[in-house]
Amino acid sequence: MPHPTRLLTNDGSHTLHSERYGQTYHSTFGAVTEAQHVFLNAAGVNERLQLGKPTRILEIGFGLGLNALLSLEQACQCKTHLEYHAYEHALVPAAAIEALNYASLVATPTLHEQLLQAVDQAHQLMSAQNAAGIESLPANPADVGNTAVMHTHTAKLNEFATLTLHLGDATTQHLNTTHNHPFHAIYLDAFSPDANAECWSPEFMRNLASVLDNAGKLSTYSAKGDVRRAMLAAQLCVEKRPGPPGKREFLVASYRCVSLE
Ligand SMILES: C[S@@+](CC[C@H](N)C(=O)[O-])C[C@H]1O[C@@H](n2cnc3c(N)ncnc32)[C@H](O)[C@@H]1O
Repeated sequence: MPHPTRLLTNDGSHTLHSERYGQTYHSTFGAVTEAQHVFLNAAGVNERLQLGKPTRILEIGFGLGLNALLSLEQACQCKTHLEYHAYEHALVPAAAIEALNYASLVATPTLHEQLLQAVDQAHQLMSAQNAAGIESLPANPADVGNTAVMHTHTAKLNEFATLTLHLGDATTQHLNTTHNHPFHAIYLDAFSPDANAECWSPEFMRNLASVLDNAGKLSTYSAKGDVRRAMLAAQLCVEKRPGPPGKREFLVASYRCVSLE
C-alpha cells in the first residue's frame, strides 16, 4: 500500500493526514512545536526529567510516535528513567513513520530506529495473533475485567527509556486495573472531539483521572468547553494556557488547583 503523503509543517517537521478522521496527526503550524509546548512542557515532563525524577507517561493516541520520541529522547539526555505507555487502535506501519524526518530530531543514536523496531514488532505480534485467532492474554490478571483485551508490546529501548504499546481502543479499558502505578503525565492526543468523540467523553475523562498521580498533569491541545467540563466532572482542576502557534488556548488538568475558574 502506498504511504500517505507527508506534509511539511511550519517548523520544518513532518506530519501525515489521516483519511479515516479527515485530519492531520499534528498541527500544521509546527508538529514538534506543538508537541513540546502542549505535551512535554505543559505536562511537566521536561521539568521532571531535568530534575532527575523517574517518570511515567500515559498517551492516548500514539499516532506517528512523535510525542513518544521527544519524551524518550529527553529521558536519555537527562539520564533519567522514563516509562512511556501509549494506546493506539490503528498503528501506522513503521515504514510510513520512517519516511518522516523524525530521525533528525534526536541526538541519541539509535533511539528512533529502536522506536521503529518496537512499532514493527508490535505490528507483527498483532498480525500473528490475529491470524492464529488468539486473543493476547492480559499482562495483569486484573485485566480480565476489561471489556476488550489489548495486544501489548513492551520494548526496553535503552537503560533509561521503555516504551509499551497497548494496541486497541483505549476507551474499552478500565485503566486503573491495567496500570498498578499512577502516571505523572497524561497526554490526551486523540483526534479532535468532533471526529473522535469516545476519547473525550466525561466517562473516559474519569477513567484517565483514575490513573493520574496526585501531583500529575493531564494535558491536551483541545480547549473546547465540553472537554473542560468533562475534566471538571472528573474532579480535576483545569487551567487554560496560551496555545502554540495557530492555537489560542489549550487545557492542562490536575488534582492540584493552580487557578480556579
Ligand atoms: C492526533 S493523532 C496522535 C499523534 C501522536 N500523539 C504523535 O505524537 O504522533 C491521534 C491518534 O489517536 C488514535 N486513536 C483515536 N481513537 C483512539 C482510541 N479510541 N483508542 C486508541 N487510539 C485512538 C488515532 O488512531 C491516532 O493515531
